[in-house]
Amino acid sequence: MRTLAVLTTVVAAMAQELPVVPAAEAPPAPAFAFLVAPPRGLPPMPLPADYAPTEVMFALGQRLFHDGILSRDRTVSCVTCHPAATGFASPEPRPAGVQGRRAKRHAPALWNRGYGTLQRWDGSSPSLEAFVLEPIADANEMDLPLAAALARLRGDADYRREFAAAFGGEPTALHLQRSLATFVRGIVAGDAPYDRFLRGDVGALTPAERSGLWVFESKGACWRCHVPPLFTDERFHNTGVGACDGVAEPGRAAATGEAADTGRWKTPTLRGVRLTAPYMHDGSLATLEDVVAFYAQGGTPNAHLDARVQPLPLTEVDRRNLVAFLRSL
Ligand code: HEC
Ligand code: HEC
Repeated sequence: MRTLAVLTTVVAAMAQELPVVPAAEAPPAPAFAFLVAPPRGLPPMPLPADYAPTEVMFALGQRLFHDGILSRDRTVSCVTCHPAATGFASPEPRPAGVQGRRAKRHAPALWNRGYGTLQRWDGSSPSLEAFVLEPIADANEMDLPLAAALARLRGDADYRREFAAAFGGEPTALHLQRSLATFVRGIVAGDAPYDRFLRGDVGALTPAERSGLWVFESKGACWRCHVPPLFTDERFHNTGVGACDGVAEPGRAAATGEAADTGRWKTPTLRGVRLTAPYMHDGSLATLEDVVAFYAQGGTPNAHLDARVQPLPLTEVDRRNLVAFLRSL
Protein backbone atom coordinates (compact mmCIF):
# COMPACT_ATOMS: atom_id res chain seq x y z
CA MET A 1 0.00 0.00 0.00
CA ARG A 2 2.73 2.36 1.08
CA THR A 3 4.72 1.56 -2.08
CA LEU A 4 1.72 2.31 -4.24
CA ALA A 5 1.23 5.65 -2.51
CA VAL A 6 4.90 6.54 -3.09
CA LEU A 7 4.71 5.57 -6.75
CA THR A 8 1.62 7.68 -7.30
CA THR A 9 3.31 10.69 -5.72
CA VAL A 10 6.45 10.18 -7.80
CA VAL A 11 4.51 9.98 -11.04
CA ALA A 12 2.54 13.10 -10.08
CA ALA A 13 5.79 14.90 -9.24
CA MET A 14 7.51 13.89 -12.46
CA ALA A 15 4.71 15.43 -14.50
CA GLN A 16 5.70 18.92 -13.29
CA GLU A 17 8.79 21.04 -13.91
CA LEU A 18 10.39 21.79 -10.54
CA PRO A 19 13.28 23.86 -9.21
CA VAL A 20 16.54 22.12 -8.37
CA VAL A 21 17.18 21.95 -4.61
CA PRO A 22 20.62 22.19 -2.95
CA ALA A 23 22.62 19.01 -2.21
CA ALA A 24 21.46 16.95 0.77
CA GLU A 25 22.39 18.27 4.19
CA ALA A 26 24.24 16.12 6.75
CA PRO A 27 22.16 14.28 9.38
CA PRO A 28 22.01 16.02 12.78
CA ALA A 29 24.52 15.64 15.63
CA PRO A 30 23.59 12.92 18.15
CA ALA A 31 21.13 14.12 20.80
CA PHE A 32 19.27 12.64 23.73
CA ALA A 33 16.11 14.41 22.54
CA PHE A 34 15.80 11.91 19.64
CA LEU A 35 15.07 9.07 22.09
CA VAL A 36 11.95 10.98 23.10
CA ALA A 37 11.05 12.62 19.78
CA PRO A 38 12.89 11.25 16.72
CA PRO A 39 13.24 13.41 13.58
CA ARG A 40 10.18 13.49 11.33
CA GLY A 41 9.73 10.47 9.14
CA LEU A 42 11.01 7.99 11.77
CA PRO A 43 8.83 5.85 14.05
CA PRO A 44 9.02 6.20 17.87
CA MET A 45 12.28 4.74 19.15
CA PRO A 46 11.91 1.46 21.07
CA LEU A 47 13.43 1.89 24.54
CA PRO A 48 15.01 -0.78 26.78
CA ALA A 49 12.54 -2.64 29.00
CA ASP A 50 14.71 -2.71 32.13
CA TYR A 51 15.84 0.92 32.55
CA ALA A 52 14.91 4.43 31.48
CA PRO A 53 17.70 6.20 29.54
CA THR A 54 18.36 9.76 30.78
CA GLU A 55 20.11 12.82 29.44
CA VAL A 56 22.84 12.41 32.09
CA MET A 57 23.53 8.85 30.88
CA PHE A 58 23.68 10.16 27.30
CA ALA A 59 26.24 12.85 28.22
CA LEU A 60 28.39 10.28 30.05
CA GLY A 61 28.15 7.88 27.09
CA GLN A 62 29.13 10.69 24.73
CA ARG A 63 32.25 11.42 26.77
CA LEU A 64 33.19 7.72 26.95
CA PHE A 65 32.64 7.28 23.19
CA HIS A 66 35.33 9.89 22.57
CA ASP A 67 37.79 8.83 25.31
CA GLY A 68 40.88 6.63 24.76
CA ILE A 69 40.63 5.51 28.42
CA LEU A 70 38.74 2.42 27.21
CA SER A 71 41.67 1.13 25.11
CA ARG A 72 44.82 -0.64 26.30
CA ASP A 73 47.28 2.05 25.21
CA ARG A 74 44.74 4.90 25.48
CA THR A 75 45.10 5.75 21.78
CA VAL A 76 41.84 4.28 20.46
CA SER A 77 38.30 5.34 21.32
CA CYS A 78 34.98 4.39 19.74
CA VAL A 79 35.16 7.47 17.54
CA THR A 80 38.51 6.32 16.08
CA CYS A 81 36.58 3.78 14.00
CA HIS A 82 33.22 5.57 14.01
CA PRO A 83 34.01 9.23 13.13
CA ALA A 84 31.05 11.58 12.78
CA ALA A 85 32.40 13.11 9.54
CA THR A 86 31.95 9.79 7.73
CA GLY A 87 28.55 8.99 9.20
CA PHE A 88 30.10 7.13 12.16
CA ALA A 89 31.40 4.49 9.70
CA SER A 90 35.11 3.81 9.15
CA PRO A 91 36.56 5.50 6.07
CA GLU A 92 38.83 2.49 5.52
CA PRO A 93 37.50 -1.01 4.65
CA ARG A 94 38.79 -2.45 7.95
CA PRO A 95 39.64 0.18 10.56
CA ALA A 96 42.74 -0.01 12.76
CA GLY A 97 42.54 -0.64 16.50
CA VAL A 98 45.41 -0.53 19.00
CA GLN A 99 48.90 -0.88 17.48
CA GLY A 100 47.44 -0.76 13.98
CA ARG A 101 45.75 -4.16 14.27
CA ARG A 102 42.84 -4.39 11.85
CA ALA A 103 39.23 -5.06 12.84
CA LYS A 104 37.73 -8.06 11.07
CA ARG A 105 35.10 -6.04 9.16
CA HIS A 106 34.10 -2.61 7.99
CA ALA A 107 32.85 -0.44 10.88
CA PRO A 108 29.25 0.26 9.86
CA ALA A 109 27.39 3.54 10.13
CA LEU A 110 25.76 3.90 13.55
CA TRP A 111 22.63 5.74 12.36
CA ASN A 112 19.39 4.49 13.89
CA ARG A 113 20.92 1.48 15.63
CA GLY A 114 18.45 2.11 18.47
CA TYR A 115 15.79 0.74 16.12
CA GLY A 116 17.63 -2.55 15.68
CA THR A 117 17.89 -5.40 18.17
CA LEU A 118 20.65 -7.65 16.79
CA GLN A 119 24.00 -5.88 16.35
CA ARG A 120 27.04 -6.68 14.13
CA TRP A 121 26.93 -7.53 10.45
CA ASP A 122 26.15 -11.15 11.34
CA GLY A 123 23.74 -10.24 14.14
CA SER A 124 25.74 -12.24 16.67
CA SER A 125 25.26 -9.64 19.41
CA PRO A 126 21.76 -9.71 20.93
CA SER A 127 21.32 -6.03 21.90
CA LEU A 128 22.98 -2.63 21.91
CA GLU A 129 23.70 -3.02 25.64
CA ALA A 130 25.33 -6.42 25.13
CA PHE A 131 27.31 -5.20 22.15
CA VAL A 132 28.92 -1.97 23.36
CA LEU A 133 31.29 -3.74 25.78
CA GLU A 134 32.62 -6.07 23.05
CA PRO A 135 34.93 -3.63 21.18
CA ILE A 136 36.63 -2.75 24.48
CA ALA A 137 37.91 -6.30 25.06
CA ASP A 138 38.38 -7.16 21.35
CA ALA A 139 42.12 -7.75 20.76
CA ASN A 140 41.96 -6.11 17.32
CA GLU A 141 40.03 -3.08 18.53
CA MET A 142 40.55 -1.60 22.03
CA ASP A 143 42.19 -4.68 23.62
CA LEU A 144 41.38 -3.79 27.24
CA PRO A 145 39.82 -6.46 29.51
CA LEU A 146 36.55 -5.17 30.96
CA ALA A 147 37.82 -5.45 34.56
CA ALA A 148 40.79 -3.22 33.69
CA ALA A 149 38.52 -0.69 31.98
CA LEU A 150 36.27 -0.52 35.05
CA ALA A 151 39.29 -0.18 37.37
CA ARG A 152 40.50 2.79 35.32
CA LEU A 153 37.10 4.47 35.46
CA ARG A 154 36.83 3.90 39.22
CA GLY A 155 40.26 5.44 39.64
CA ASP A 156 39.21 8.63 37.85
CA ALA A 157 37.55 11.22 40.11
CA ASP A 158 35.62 12.88 37.26
CA TYR A 159 34.21 9.60 35.99
CA ARG A 160 33.30 8.49 39.53
CA ARG A 161 31.29 11.70 39.88
CA GLU A 162 29.62 11.34 36.49
CA PHE A 163 28.66 7.69 37.03
CA ALA A 164 27.25 8.65 40.45
CA ALA A 165 25.19 11.42 38.84
CA ALA A 166 23.91 9.11 36.09
CA PHE A 167 23.32 5.91 38.05
CA GLY A 168 23.68 6.69 41.75
CA GLY A 169 26.60 4.26 41.88
CA GLU A 170 30.15 3.60 40.80
CA PRO A 171 31.37 2.52 37.35
CA THR A 172 30.16 -1.07 36.77
CA ALA A 173 29.71 -3.12 33.59
CA LEU A 174 25.96 -2.47 33.74
CA HIS A 175 26.41 1.29 34.08
CA LEU A 176 29.07 1.39 31.37
CA GLN A 177 26.90 -0.48 28.88
CA ARG A 178 23.84 1.61 29.63
CA SER A 179 25.65 4.92 29.17
CA LEU A 180 27.31 3.87 25.88
CA ALA A 181 24.07 2.36 24.54
CA THR A 182 22.14 5.51 25.44
CA PHE A 183 24.61 7.64 23.48
CA VAL A 184 24.44 5.31 20.46
CA ARG A 185 20.61 5.46 20.52
CA GLY A 186 20.91 9.23 20.12
CA ILE A 187 22.72 8.81 16.75
CA VAL A 188 19.83 9.13 14.32
CA ALA A 189 19.17 10.13 10.74
CA GLY A 190 15.71 11.12 9.53
CA ASP A 191 13.80 14.09 8.10
CA ALA A 192 15.74 13.89 4.83
CA PRO A 193 14.49 15.44 1.56
CA TYR A 194 12.85 12.03 0.98
CA ASP A 195 10.70 12.46 4.12
CA ARG A 196 9.71 15.98 3.12
CA PHE A 197 8.82 14.69 -0.34
CA LEU A 198 6.53 12.06 1.20
CA ARG A 199 4.87 14.79 3.25
CA GLY A 200 3.92 16.51 0.03
CA ASP A 201 6.88 18.86 -0.54
CA VAL A 202 7.36 17.69 -4.11
CA GLY A 203 10.33 20.00 -4.74
CA ALA A 204 12.32 18.47 -1.85
CA LEU A 205 13.81 15.94 -4.31
CA THR A 206 15.40 16.98 -7.61
CA PRO A 207 13.99 15.43 -10.80
CA ALA A 208 16.99 13.04 -10.90
CA GLU A 209 16.45 12.02 -7.26
CA ARG A 210 12.76 11.47 -7.90
CA SER A 211 13.55 9.26 -10.87
CA GLY A 212 16.04 7.41 -8.67
CA LEU A 213 13.32 6.81 -6.08
CA TRP A 214 11.25 5.34 -8.88
CA VAL A 215 14.08 2.94 -9.79
CA PHE A 216 14.47 2.06 -6.08
CA GLU A 217 10.76 1.19 -5.93
CA SER A 218 10.30 -0.47 -9.32
CA LYS A 219 13.06 -2.06 -11.46
CA GLY A 220 15.61 -2.04 -8.63
CA ALA A 221 13.28 -3.58 -6.01
CA CYS A 222 15.74 -2.26 -3.43
CA TRP A 223 12.90 -1.54 -0.98
CA ARG A 224 12.29 -5.28 -0.51
CA CYS A 225 15.23 -5.37 1.91
CA HIS A 226 15.97 -1.67 2.46
CA VAL A 227 12.43 -1.06 3.75
CA PRO A 228 11.47 2.59 4.35
CA PRO A 229 11.38 4.54 6.55
CA LEU A 230 14.50 3.02 8.17
CA PHE A 231 15.73 1.63 4.82
CA THR A 232 16.52 -1.71 6.44
CA ASP A 233 14.43 -4.74 7.36
CA GLU A 234 16.96 -5.58 10.13
CA ARG A 235 17.13 -9.05 8.56
CA PHE A 236 19.94 -11.06 6.97
CA HIS A 237 20.38 -11.71 3.25
CA ASN A 238 22.93 -13.22 0.91
CA THR A 239 23.77 -10.76 -1.88
CA GLY A 240 27.06 -12.54 -2.61
CA VAL A 241 29.40 -9.90 -1.16
CA GLY A 242 32.61 -11.70 -0.19
CA ALA A 243 31.71 -14.88 -2.11
CA CYS A 244 34.63 -16.38 -3.99
CA ASP A 245 34.40 -19.02 -6.74
CA GLY A 246 30.72 -19.57 -5.88
CA VAL A 247 31.47 -20.13 -2.19
CA ALA A 248 30.03 -17.64 0.30
CA GLU A 249 31.58 -16.64 3.62
CA PRO A 250 29.77 -18.08 6.68
CA GLY A 251 28.08 -14.73 7.54
CA ARG A 252 25.00 -15.17 9.72
CA ALA A 253 25.52 -18.96 9.75
CA ALA A 254 28.50 -18.52 12.11
CA ALA A 255 26.05 -17.15 14.69
CA THR A 256 23.09 -19.51 14.12
CA GLY A 257 24.71 -22.73 12.87
CA GLU A 258 22.02 -22.89 10.15
CA ALA A 259 23.34 -23.76 6.67
CA ALA A 260 20.56 -21.62 5.14
CA ASP A 261 22.14 -18.54 6.77
CA THR A 262 25.42 -18.99 4.85
CA GLY A 263 26.62 -15.72 3.38
CA ARG A 264 23.77 -13.73 4.91
CA TRP A 265 24.62 -10.36 6.41
CA LYS A 266 22.44 -7.73 8.04
CA THR A 267 20.80 -5.21 5.72
CA PRO A 268 22.37 -1.84 6.60
CA THR A 269 20.32 1.35 6.65
CA LEU A 270 20.71 3.60 3.60
CA ARG A 271 20.14 6.81 5.55
CA GLY A 272 23.25 8.97 5.50
CA VAL A 273 24.81 6.46 3.06
CA ARG A 274 26.50 9.10 0.90
CA LEU A 275 28.88 9.74 3.85
CA THR A 276 29.77 6.16 4.77
CA ALA A 277 31.97 4.75 1.98
CA PRO A 278 33.43 2.20 1.52
CA TYR A 279 30.41 -0.11 1.47
CA MET A 280 29.41 -3.64 2.54
CA HIS A 281 30.56 -5.74 5.53
CA ASP A 282 34.04 -6.02 4.09
CA GLY A 283 34.23 -2.49 2.70
CA SER A 284 34.85 -4.04 -0.70
CA LEU A 285 32.85 -1.50 -2.77
CA ALA A 286 34.37 1.98 -2.88
CA THR A 287 31.49 4.08 -4.22
CA LEU A 288 27.71 4.09 -4.58
CA GLU A 289 28.22 3.72 -8.33
CA ASP A 290 30.08 0.46 -7.60
CA VAL A 291 27.21 -0.69 -5.35
CA VAL A 292 24.62 -0.02 -8.04
CA ALA A 293 26.77 -1.83 -10.65
CA PHE A 294 27.05 -4.75 -8.21
CA TYR A 295 23.25 -5.06 -7.92
CA ALA A 296 22.73 -4.48 -11.65
CA GLN A 297 24.87 -7.55 -12.40
CA GLY A 298 22.78 -9.58 -9.91
CA GLY A 299 25.21 -9.66 -6.96
CA THR A 300 27.88 -12.35 -6.84
CA PRO A 301 26.68 -15.87 -7.75
CA ASN A 302 26.96 -18.45 -4.96
CA ALA A 303 25.00 -21.45 -3.74
CA HIS A 304 22.97 -19.41 -1.24
CA LEU A 305 22.26 -16.21 -3.22
CA ASP A 306 18.95 -14.55 -2.17
CA ALA A 307 16.24 -15.05 -4.82
CA ARG A 308 15.52 -11.30 -4.69
CA VAL A 309 18.99 -10.52 -6.03
CA GLN A 310 18.70 -10.84 -9.83
CA PRO A 311 20.39 -9.06 -12.74
CA LEU A 312 18.57 -5.73 -13.21
CA PRO A 313 17.74 -4.08 -16.53
CA LEU A 314 19.10 -0.65 -15.50
CA THR A 315 20.07 1.93 -18.13
CA GLU A 316 22.99 4.32 -17.56
CA VAL A 317 20.47 7.04 -16.68
CA ASP A 318 18.65 4.74 -14.21
CA ARG A 319 21.96 4.05 -12.47
CA ARG A 320 22.86 7.72 -12.20
CA ASN A 321 19.41 8.59 -10.87
CA LEU A 322 19.46 5.75 -8.36
CA VAL A 323 22.81 6.99 -7.03
CA ALA A 324 21.39 10.54 -6.84
CA PHE A 325 18.47 9.23 -4.79
CA LEU A 326 20.76 7.27 -2.44
CA ARG A 327 22.86 10.38 -1.94
CA SER A 328 19.76 12.37 -0.99
CA LEU A 329 19.01 10.06 1.94
C1 HEC B 1 38.94 -0.70 15.91
C2 HEC B 1 37.73 -0.14 15.38
C3 HEC B 1 36.49 -0.06 16.24
C4 HEC B 1 36.37 0.50 17.48
C5 HEC B 1 37.47 1.10 18.35
C6 HEC B 1 34.97 0.43 17.81
N1 HEC B 1 34.26 -0.14 16.79
FE1 HEC B 1 32.24 -0.33 16.68
N2 HEC B 1 32.46 -1.51 15.08
C7 HEC B 1 33.66 -1.78 14.44
C8 HEC B 1 33.46 -2.87 13.50
C9 HEC B 1 34.53 -3.47 12.61
C10 HEC B 1 32.11 -3.24 13.60
C11 HEC B 1 31.42 -4.39 12.87
C12 HEC B 1 31.64 -5.61 13.76
C13 HEC B 1 31.01 -6.88 13.25
O1 HEC B 1 30.12 -6.82 12.44
O2 HEC B 1 31.44 -7.94 13.70
C14 HEC B 1 31.50 -2.36 14.60
C15 HEC B 1 30.16 -2.40 14.96
C16 HEC B 1 29.58 -1.55 15.88
C17 HEC B 1 28.16 -1.50 16.19
C18 HEC B 1 27.09 -2.37 15.57
C19 HEC B 1 26.46 -1.68 14.39
C20 HEC B 1 25.55 -2.58 13.62
O3 HEC B 1 25.00 -2.10 12.62
O4 HEC B 1 25.36 -3.76 13.95
C21 HEC B 1 28.00 -0.56 17.18
C22 HEC B 1 26.69 -0.17 17.85
C23 HEC B 1 29.32 -0.05 17.50
N3 HEC B 1 30.25 -0.65 16.67
C24 HEC B 1 29.60 0.85 18.51
C25 HEC B 1 30.87 1.03 19.04
C26 HEC B 1 31.17 1.61 20.34
C27 HEC B 1 30.13 2.13 21.32
C28 HEC B 1 32.53 1.57 20.49
C29 HEC B 1 33.36 2.00 21.67
C30 HEC B 1 33.09 1.30 22.93
C31 HEC B 1 33.08 1.01 19.26
N4 HEC B 1 32.05 0.66 18.42
C32 HEC B 1 34.43 0.87 19.01
C33 HEC B 1 34.85 -1.15 14.65
C34 HEC B 1 35.16 -0.49 15.84
C1 HEC C 1 17.89 -9.28 -0.80
C2 HEC C 1 17.96 -8.06 0.00
C3 HEC C 1 18.54 -6.82 -0.64
C4 HEC C 1 18.17 -6.18 -1.79
C5 HEC C 1 17.06 -6.56 -2.77
C6 HEC C 1 19.02 -5.01 -1.91
N1 HEC C 1 19.88 -4.96 -0.85
FE1 HEC C 1 21.30 -3.55 -0.55
N2 HEC C 1 22.07 -4.65 0.99
C7 HEC C 1 21.54 -5.83 1.46
C8 HEC C 1 22.47 -6.45 2.38
C9 HEC C 1 22.27 -7.75 3.13
C10 HEC C 1 23.60 -5.60 2.42
C11 HEC C 1 24.90 -5.85 3.17
C12 HEC C 1 25.70 -6.87 2.36
C13 HEC C 1 27.10 -7.12 2.89
O1 HEC C 1 27.64 -6.28 3.58
O2 HEC C 1 27.66 -8.17 2.58
C14 HEC C 1 23.30 -4.46 1.55
C15 HEC C 1 24.13 -3.37 1.36
C16 HEC C 1 23.80 -2.26 0.59
C17 HEC C 1 24.56 -1.03 0.55
C18 HEC C 1 25.82 -0.73 1.37
C19 HEC C 1 25.48 0.08 2.59
C20 HEC C 1 26.61 0.17 3.58
O3 HEC C 1 26.45 0.93 4.53
O4 HEC C 1 27.62 -0.54 3.43
C21 HEC C 1 23.93 -0.18 -0.33
C22 HEC C 1 24.34 1.23 -0.70
C23 HEC C 1 22.79 -0.91 -0.86
N3 HEC C 1 22.74 -2.17 -0.28
C24 HEC C 1 21.92 -0.42 -1.81
C25 HEC C 1 20.97 -1.21 -2.45
C26 HEC C 1 20.29 -0.83 -3.67
C27 HEC C 1 20.49 0.48 -4.40
C28 HEC C 1 19.49 -1.87 -4.00
C29 HEC C 1 18.61 -2.01 -5.23
C30 HEC C 1 19.30 -1.96 -6.51
C31 HEC C 1 19.65 -2.89 -2.97
N4 HEC C 1 20.56 -2.46 -2.07
C32 HEC C 1 18.97 -4.10 -2.95
C33 HEC C 1 20.32 -6.37 1.10
C34 HEC C 1 19.64 -6.05 -0.06
